[in-house]
Amino acid sequence: MAKVALITGITGQDGAYLAEYLIKKGYTVHGIKRRSSLFNTDRIDHLYQDPHEHNRNMILHYGDMTDSMNLTRIIGDVKPDEIYNLAAMSHVKVSFDTPEYTANADGIGTLRILEAVRLLGLTKKTRIYQASTSELYGLVQEIPQKETTPFYPRSPYAVAKLYAYWITVNYREAYGMHASNGILFNHESPLRGETFVTRKVTRAVSRIVLGMQDMVYMGNLSSKRDWGHAKDYIKAMYLILQQDTPDDYVISTGITTTIRDFIKMSFAKAGVVVDFKGVDEKEVGFLVSIDESVFAKEVGIEYLESFRKRLGETVVGVDPSYFRPTEVDILIGDNSKAKAKLGWEPSYSLDGLCEDMMMHDIALMKKEDYLKNGGYRILNYFE
Ligand code: NAP
Ligand code: GDD
Repeated sequence: MAKVALITGITGQDGAYLAEYLIKKGYTVHGIKRRSSLFNTDRIDHLYQDPHEHNRNMILHYGDMTDSMNLTRIIGDVKPDEIYNLAAMSHVKVSFDTPEYTANADGIGTLRILEAVRLLGLTKKTRIYQASTSELYGLVQEIPQKETTPFYPRSPYAVAKLYAYWITVNYREAYGMHASNGILFNHESPLRGETFVTRKVTRAVSRIVLGMQDMVYMGNLSSKRDWGHAKDYIKAMYLILQQDTPDDYVISTGITTTIRDFIKMSFAKAGVVVDFKGVDEKEVGFLVSIDESVFAKEVGIEYLESFRKRLGETVVGVDPSYFRPTEVDILIGDNSKAKAKLGWEPSYSLDGLCEDMMMHDIALMKKEDYLKNGGYRILNYFE
């Protein structure tokens, strides 16, 4: 019999990669998606199967993390071997605007899943993965952060996830459930939402080198993140649920980089050198030089002539409205436990991740269709 997995947040970055990974492993994958007025399944459309087909291995259910009865009904119908609870309002800055909803979906939502499994008598059958986060470390109490590092959350998002973390531990200890937390550090990919910093940067840089946009406005350029590739991180989720004993694991690369350096790295993928001057909100990034052979290969020779004329121009500015009321300045994870116990380690370097995202976004921006379909939406959005 094929194993059955239920993924909440299947339409998100991680949900999409995980669904594909589990289907390749022979699982039947059920996913919960929210009703929206526009299609929200872009990331999983390649996995979609018509409901009239027999023996489907991917099945979608309408649902919401704020609706207990709906979640209980779906879990009761599906009786999954594994639940991956990935659904969340996952944007830290937006959580300051929607704190109550974030607490409900990200905090109490996790309780709803655990309690449904318990009430349905599935505690011995169903294993649960909770998408915990390095944001729990917030105002970091130790560098690098590991499983034993005390938490100090710095946003409504992180506080909601703190509840979710501990209620998962509590249900494990109280009811003997196979419930585990993956404390995942930031992970990115070409599927990353457009308002998270790496994707905002790779999209904007692609558009700037193609001559479609003059500059991009950013928030705090000095914060540091430990970035890995989502394709590696969803494998850790799977491995956590294959262990005989439930436990909590840090999943990270162990390398931390500033936003500023990620911007430089992204331009470098197009053969462009960018430097920064000024401080705080007066800081700007400007075009220094071009390696024309790299530019011609990665961007296209036809874009070179006009781009050359822009050398010296400012392409990155700072807009303080993107600053967060309380910031997480540095995240860097110690993944020794995951390496030793799960045999997990990242296969992508930051350079490889940036390359993957930049090549994807340059190709995406070049697509005429993409432009016609609103893809040129202003990048200097709220987040
Ligand atoms: P994402 O791309 O923002 O995806 C979030 C998913 O949750 C989407 O499918 C979204 O649906 C769904 N969702 C949001 N609110 C919901 C609700 N009320 N009911 C049902 N579904 C809801 O996030 P991700 O990057 O894949 O991250 C997956 C999980 O890992 C999240 O819980 C996130 O907080 C956590 N995490 C992420 C990272 C990271 O660096 N990516 C690191 C640590 C932890 P729509 O598509 O309809 O919006
Ligand atoms: N989004 C965004 N937009 N962030 C910016 C910008 C900008 O224009 N400019 C600077 N930053 C800084 C933020 O202030 C933060 O310090 C850093 O870039 C990373 O921001 P995000 O990419 O939005 O991610 P995050 O670290 O806040 O949260 C992500 O990672 C968490 C794991 O640590 C999300 O995926 C969370 O869901 C996840 O839990």
